Amino acid sequence: MRLVDQYRHVRHQTNVVCQPLQIEDYMAHSAPWASPAKWHLGHTTWFFETFILIPFVQEYHAFDSRFNFLFNSYYNAVGDRLARAHRGSWSRPGVSDIYRYRQVVDEAIIGCLSVSEEQIPQEIRSRVVLGLHHEQQHQELILTDLLHHFSVNPFCPAYTQRRPRPSTPVEALHFEVFQGRIAEIGHVGDDFAFDNELPRHRVLLHPFALANRLTTCGEYLAFIEAGGYHDPKWWLSDGWDVCRANNWEAPLYWRREQGKWHRFGLHGLVEIEPEQAVAHVSYYEADAFARWSGARLATEFEWESVFASATPEGSFVDSQTYEPTTLRAIGEVWQWTASAYLGYPGYRPFEGALGEYNGKFMCNQFVLRGGSCLTPSSHFRTSYRNFFSPETRWQMTGILLAKDVLR
Ligand SMILES: [Fe+2]
Repeated sequence: MRLVDQYRHVRHQTNVVCQPLQIEDYMAHSAPWASPAKWHLGHTTWFFETFILIPFVQEYHAFDSRFNFLFNSYYNAVGDRLARAHRGSWSRPGVSDIYRYRQVVDEAIIGCLSVSEEQIPQEIRSRVVLGLHHEQQHQELILTDLLHHFSVNPFCPAYTQRRPRPSTPVEALHFEVFQGRIAEIGHVGDDFAFDNELPRHRVLLHPFALANRLTTCGEYLAFIEAGGYHDPKWWLSDGWDVCRANNWEAPLYWRREQGKWHRFGLHGLVEIEPEQAVAHVSYYEADAFARWSGARLATEFEWESVFASATPEGSFVDSQTYEPTTLRAIGEVWQWTASAYLGYPGYRPFEGALGEYNGKFMCNQFVLRGGSCLTPSSHFRTSYRNFFSPETRWQMTGILLAKDVLR
């Protein structure tokens, strides 16, 4: 597909994600770590304007210079910004103004790209591709932020009325053994990858075993019913502190109503389906569940060594199920790994201000692998490294168990 068509497609998909929203939903902001949809729409547009149009297109003038303060997320090199906790505090410019902003920036970018592919300067091409992957990351965030907002609404609103396809029958849990070896890890090929997926390098793997499928809600429920949330022996010290301080009793969005466990999702409040992949657990919960199960979480290197050449089949957001519908490791729920989010040996951030995209977050976070049912499929690669701090629960995060294999 020509770059200009990729641009049109990805930008349109953001509109598709927002299509079910009512006007008030655009400003919804239920937690300081989330952002309203209106901010996501402006911020992704600001990204193209700031990193492509202003530096490279002489005749382009900023749509509104005040937007730099409003829509800069975390780029210190680009200037001051509105604190994230206040992203829901401005009702003007309105939603229609933000859509107008998107339209003006789209016209300018499409103008740049409406030449033969060879005539697009390499720097513009690579920044547009980065901007499109950035936009796709925010498409997932729009949904997870909206889900959190709806979850605190006593009316339990549903983003969509379409019910997910029923889960496939659950295969019995077993562990497949993989021999120790030196594995090549990291992105390979000329396609886009974030700087944090590079450089490709060698990693020593000891023999290990990996579960044949994701952990289910039913399996996780057994941990709850066995008192897992009340026994510190399963928990990391930090995790136990967070668990107790927040009175965690179950994954985020799980509620006990009339004696039955329910979970809130983009379809509203539904009864727990034991065969569905568990989601919305923190690293701490995933780790505690693994220890209780006599297992552990896989390292990101074990994960990639197994799935590097797997076909990326899964629900992804393209299916519009908005729920995990299979127990496969790709495209259903992101899986917490036991790996700290660090640069690979020889890691070099992107040049200039864009160097702030990934590298400065390489502290106090864990890597997640696999993509989710809210991730666009064209955004995913098996070398993809997502990352969040260990207490994070509002993302579509689940569990894939691993074990040591003693020689
Ligand atoms: Fe962003």
